[in-house]
Amino acid sequence: MKQKLFLLISIISLFFFKESFGQPTTPNQDGRKWWKEAIVYQVYPRSFKDSDGDGIGDLKGIISELDYIKSLGVTAVWLNPIYSSPNDDNGYDVSDYRNIMKDFGTMADFDSLLKGMHERGIKLIMDLVVNHSSDEHEWFKQSRSSRTNPYREYYHWWNAENGKPPYRYSLFDVNHDAWKYDSLTNAYYLHYFSRKQPDLNWENPKVRQEVFNIMKFWADKGIDGFRLDAFQFAAKDTTWPAFPKGFEKDFSKYYAMQGNLHGYLQEMYKEVLSKYNVMSVVEGAGNSFTDAHNLVDSNRHELNMAYAFDGVNIAKPSGYSLLHFKEVFSRWDSAFQNNGWLSVFLANHDQARMVSRFGNDKPPYRALSSEMLTTFIMTMRGTPYYYNGDELGMTNIGFTDIKDYRDVQALNAYQHEKNIGGDLKKFMKREASTSRDNSRTPFQWEDAPNAGFTTGTPWIKVNPNYKTINEEAENNDPNSVLNYFRKVVRLRKDNLVLVYGKYELLDKANPNVYAYTRTGDGEKLLIVLNFTTHNADANIGIDVKNATMLLSNYKNAPLSNKKTITLKPYQAVIYRLPM
Ligand code: GLC
Repeated sequence: MKQKLFLLISIISLFFFKESFGQPTTPNQDGRKWWKEAIVYQVYPRSFKDSDGDGIGDLKGIISELDYIKSLGVTAVWLNPIYSSPNDDNGYDVSDYRNIMKDFGTMADFDSLLKGMHERGIKLIMDLVVNHSSDEHEWFKQSRSSRTNPYREYYHWWNAENGKPPYRYSLFDVNHDAWKYDSLTNAYYLHYFSRKQPDLNWENPKVRQEVFNIMKFWADKGIDGFRLDAFQFAAKDTTWPAFPKGFEKDFSKYYAMQGNLHGYLQEMYKEVLSKYNVMSVVEGAGNSFTDAHNLVDSNRHELNMAYAFDGVNIAKPSGYSLLHFKEVFSRWDSAFQNNGWLSVFLANHDQARMVSRFGNDKPPYRALSSEMLTTFIMTMRGTPYYYNGDELGMTNIGFTDIKDYRDVQALNAYQHEKNIGGDLKKFMKREASTSRDNSRTPFQWEDAPNAGFTTGTPWIKVNPNYKTINEEAENNDPNSVLNYFRKVVRLRKDNLVLVYGKYELLDKANPNVYAYTRTGDGEKLLIVLNFTTHNADANIGIDVKNATMLLSNYKNAPLSNKKTITLKPYQAVIYRLPM
C-alpha cells in the first residue's frame, strides 16, 4: 500500500516537475506557438538589393542576400508588398494580387525566394493590402465604368445628385478629402489613403470572397503568414453619418473597428486562416485594449497578433520622455499578460530610423544607442519585428529638398502646405526628421558606389554615411552594431524566458534608465538600459554580485554597488540572476 502511494506521489510530482520545469513558462493562456518565438526581420524590397541595375531593389536581389539574412539568426521575414502595382504608394496600391510587380521580377523569382527561405529555416510573412486596391486594378476599372457594372459595389460610391458626401478625411490626399469626384458616372468614390487607392467595400460578400481566394492562392504556395495592412479601417458604416467637426485630429476613433469588422475576420478565420499553418498580424489595434484583445484573443478565432502604435507614437520631433516610454510599454505588456499576443518594434517603413528617433545618431553614440535599443526589442515579451538596416545602425537621411522625396504622403502634404500658404520651412524641417523616406533609403552593403545597392541610379538617394555604416565593414568588425545584433538574437533564441517570461519593471521613476526582469522556468534575467548620453545609476534593489552577465554593449561590466548599478552612456546589459 505504502509502495503504491509512493509510486502515485512520484508520478504526480514528476508530472508537476515536467509542467513547471520541463517547458518554458507560458503565463499566456494560448501556450507555445512558432510565431511567438519568431524573430521577424522586415525587408523593404524596393530598397534592399537591386540585381539588374534598374535602381530598384528586386526579388533576385533578396535571393542573393538570403545567406546574409540567415546569418542574422532571424527566423521569419515580413516582405512589404511585391504584387503588381503602379507604385503610387510603393506597392501599397495593388493592381493584381496574383502577380509580381514588374520592377521586382516574376512569379518564378518569387517561388525561388520562398524555396530559398524555407531551405534556410526562414518563414515568409506577406503583406496583404485589402483595405483598398489600386485604381488601376481591373475591379476598379469595371466599377467606375458605369453605375450598373457588376463590380460597382466592390468600392464605395456616393452619387453626386445626392449632394456632397459627408466629409471623410484622407491621410494622403492633397486636400485631405477622402471623396474623389469622378465625372464618368457623376459620383464620388472613397479613398482613405491616396486617390489612387480606392477603399474596397468589405460590406460586399463578393469582395470578401475575392480576398479569401487571394489568401488561399498565396497560402497554397506555402507562405507562412499575412500582415493585414491598415485592416482596422476596412469595415465602414455605410450609412455615412456626419462626423463632428475636427474629427480628423483623432480620425482613428471614427475609422477603426467599425461595422462588422470582427465578423469579417471570423469569416476569414473560418475560410482561410484555420485551414493553413499561417500566422496573422493586424496593422493597428483599434483604440483601446478591448479593441486589441477583440482582434487577437484566441478564443475569438480572428487573428494572432496585434501591431499597435502607442509605443512608436511616443517619439515626437521634439523627442520623448523615457518615463512615458516605460509607462506605455509596461501598460501594453500587462494588458496582454494572460491572453492575446503583441508585436514589439521601434521602426518600420512608415517611421523614421530607429536610432535617429529613439536613440542618438551622433557619431559617438550611434552604435551604442542602436545596440541599446536592439537589446530592448529583443528582451521584451511579444514578437520582435526588426526593420532592415537597423541592424547596421542606419540613420535618417533628413532630406532638405522636396525634389529628393519620393513618398506620396510627403509630396502631397508638401503640396497641401503650399496650397494653404503654410510655413514651408517649418514643414521641411519637420519632414526631415519624421518622413517615411528616412527609412526607405537603400540598404548600405559596402563602401562602393551606391553603397553596393545598385549599379544603376537608385530610385531614392543613398545616405552618404554608407562609407562608414555598411554591412561589409560591420561584418568584419567583431564589435560592430551588426555583430551585436547577431549576439542578442542568439540570446533570445537560447532563452525562451525572453519570449514567455513574466515582465516586471524596476526603478519605475528613474528618468534615465529602463530596468526590468523576465522571469519564468526557474530562471530570471535582468535587463538594464541607459537611455542617456551620460553615466546613470539604476536603483534596482537587486545585488548583481553573484549574477552572470550574459551580454553588454561595453567591454566591461557596469560598476555595481550593493543594489545600484552605474551604467555608461547608452549602456545595455543583460544578467542572469541566481534563483
Ligand atoms: C499602411 C502601410 C503604409 C501604407 C498604408 C496604405 O499603413 O504600412 O506604408 O502607405 O498602409 O496602404
